[in-house]
Amino acid sequence: MDISFLQEAIRKRADQGLFRSFAGQGKGIDFCSNDYLGLSQLQPHTLTHFYGLGSGASRLISGNHVLAEETEAWVAEQFGAESALWYGSGYLANLGLFSCLAGRGDTYLYDEFIHASIREGLRLSHAHAYSFRHNDVEALRQKASVVRGRVFVVLESVYSMDGDTPPLEAIVHLCRELGWYLIVDEAHGLGVFGSRGCGHTFGQAWNDVLLARVLTFGKAAGFHGAMVLGPAVLKEYLTQFSRPLIYTTASGQSDFAMLRFKLEKLLMAEAERSSLLQNIEHFIRSSAQTPLALMPSVSPIQSVLCNGNEAAVKLAELLCAEGFEVRPVRSPTVPKGTERIRIILHSFNTKEQVGDLVSVLSRNEAFMKIS
Ligand SMILES: Cc1ncc(COP(=O)(O)O)c(C=O)c1O
Repeated sequence: MDISFLQEAIRKRADQGLFRSFAGQGKGIDFCSNDYLGLSQLQPHTLTHFYGLGSGASRLISGNHVLAEETEAWVAEQFGAESALWYGSGYLANLGLFSCLAGRGDTYLYDEFIHASIREGLRLSHAHAYSFRHNDVEALRQKASVVRGRVFVVLESVYSMDGDTPPLEAIVHLCRELGWYLIVDEAHGLGVFGSRGCGHTFGQAWNDVLLARVLTFGKAAGFHGAMVLGPAVLKEYLTQFSRPLIYTTASGQSDFAMLRFKLEKLLMAEAERSSLLQNIEHFIRSSAQTPLALMPSVSPIQSVLCNGNEAAVKLAELLCAEGFEVRPVRSPTVPKGTERIRIILHSFNTKEQVGDLVSVLSRNEAFMKIS
């Protein structure tokens, strides 16, 4: 069997400086995971029940369980939605939602920096899909000249690479004016923003345009999985048409028990949220006194711009050697010219660690764009 084509593709990728490899937690201080509140290591002291681990089938055959339904109903109630529907990951939730929501002749309008999982969902759908300039309401409005059928605007409440938030209120107004539907992925808003960490979209009077919210539980909730929140009829629709839900084995009961445990902690984690916000402020304030060029963001996701892919990789290696776990983000994952070190701040980072990180960064100006 000739499998040299595999090696050839890998070599090409490496030659482009884009080789990828798995990475564990590392020994340094965590400035790279999405475990914003430090909940990933938290587990119940005692498990009072034995929860069967396997479900045995998809939810439509025999894999459904009362615990899945109860947990979904509880999440819907906590987040002020009519219904919630579980998927095994955020990637699957986005694939499952966007591949079937808009049909042939309809249109998706998505922010140019939207997450890959949403892009994949759009590609699988039969709808038209157009991107608009990042966070630009006027650019979105101008797309009115090309849309057909029903129109679905797709945003993230906190963008995963830049850490910034779209002008949600203005986009809601635009959707209202033009009769468009809005869908917001709250992957990086959950746990951090909004009342009890319920996200930027929580508690807003936007139900006339906000068709769905996507919550992912692998980040601030410190677990895995995701839910699509929305009207009850949306859940019913997805049950009929969403292939990543229909053609996959259901999650086991222990997942739902653990999710509830983690989300209860997340909703109550006011002390963690407050120390996270203090760390964000401290990082931004300390960086402002240095030549570091940061992307504008008030979220835990902070990007330090570098002079290209190679410089970003070198700088990340150097920081790791100094005891800081950070990761480079290269183009084409981010646009050319915005290659960066992506720093993720957490509630459990100390003020001193944040200050030390900024000092080490500013000692390595040669790799970075200077503000
Ligand atoms: C905005 C956004 N949506 C969805 C996902 C996918 O979520 P998961 O990691 O649960 O598959 C991510 C993960 O990086 C993300 O950043």
